[in-house]
Amino acid sequence: MILSRNQLGFIFNHVPYGGPFTGTFNEGTTMASNRRKIAVIGAGNVGATCAFVLAQMKIADIVMLDIYEGFAKGKALDMSQNGQVLNYDGAITGTANYEDIAGAEVVVVTSGFPRQPGMTREDLIAKNAGIVQQVGEGIRDHAPDATIIMVTNPLDLMTYHMQKVTGFPANRVCGQAGVLDSARMTHFVAKAVGCSEEDVQAMVLGGHGDTMVPLPRFTTVGGIAITHLLDAETIDAICKRTASGGGEIVKLLERGSAFYAPGSAAAIMAEAVLNDRKRLIPASAHLTGQYGLDDVYIGVPVILGAGGIERILELELSEEELASLQGSGNFYKSQLSELLGY
Ligand code: NAI
Ligand code: 2OP
Repeated sequence: MILSRNQLGFIFNHVPYGGPFTGTFNEGTTMASNRRKIAVIGAGNVGATCAFVLAQMKIADIVMLDIYEGFAKGKALDMSQNGQVLNYDGAITGTANYEDIAGAEVVVVTSGFPRQPGMTREDLIAKNAGIVQQVGEGIRDHAPDATIIMVTNPLDLMTYHMQKVTGFPANRVCGQAGVLDSARMTHFVAKAVGCSEEDVQAMVLGGHGDTMVPLPRFTTVGGIAITHLLDAETIDAICKRTASGGGEIVKLLERGSAFYAPGSAAAIMAEAVLNDRKRLIPASAHLTGQYGLDDVYIGVPVILGAGGIERILELELSEEELASLQGSGNFYKSQLSELLGY
């Protein structure tokens, strides 16, 4: 009988160990590793979910850093003990020390307060700007070559702030929002059409907030734009539900905000950078004149690879679509100066 790797692992882990144990066992550093490294800052709901998804991708060792060391260490140990069950081997460690993120090629930043019912993402700005300042200095000093994927809200403002704090080239600082918002739209489209989620490709641009811009003309099912598949009223309802998708979950949860889809979305972006996948996805990127917007971070279609934001794609938008995107960009530009002093 040939046993699978999982079965062998099960037997090994359940045979009482009787021989002498000669090695030292330092948690998270049990074996020398040539694996690459991804750091996740903030071991809360989004950060831990992101780390968990990354662990299952088996692409890198993962360091979770949180201001509460035990919180990060505890979650890392819990995830590590799941290695046999889910068949992954890489080291997952927790820390509060920035020295431990040295060598990380990608840093996902999720540290910060989430929304509570009744709050907008922008209400978080005062608290989270200080956290981003502290985290940004840690990344700048200890992982100066990393690409940063921001998740902390308000996303587009905090991504801009992070770029300023670190002084990293703008292509190496980007924000996760579009993958999540498009995935939400995908889900609603799949339900309305009655098809598999796998066949839907949605495109949501703009800021990660009330001004986000779902684009039905660029949202397809099996290559067919949804404008050919669904009536205007249904599409309008889908766009509205997408734009308030985060708020809908905040209201249901009553404490905190969504994390399964957001953490997974951030992991997808980290993988795209680490493995130079050149994914064409929407992400918050620094604009320098594209779409008539300058010096603002906002969600646009990009090519994401080892060079971070390697390219920003300029779609031919209708007048109405362009006006919505510019409205969103200008809203965040005014918030940058009014609330953050940029
Ligand atoms: P959470 O409260 O579960 O986790 C946040 C973690 O950050 C906590 O463990 C906390 O100890 C840690 N932290 C706070 N200050 C820190 C510091 N200075 N250094 C290191 N760690 C620090 O919150 P959750 O649900 O994980 O959300 C995190 C952030 O992500 C929030 O700002 C939330 O609004 C945002 N978010 C963004 C989404 C997006 O699509 N861009 C989607 C979902 C959430
Ligand atoms: C979300 O969209 C709150 O930004 C968070 O779920």
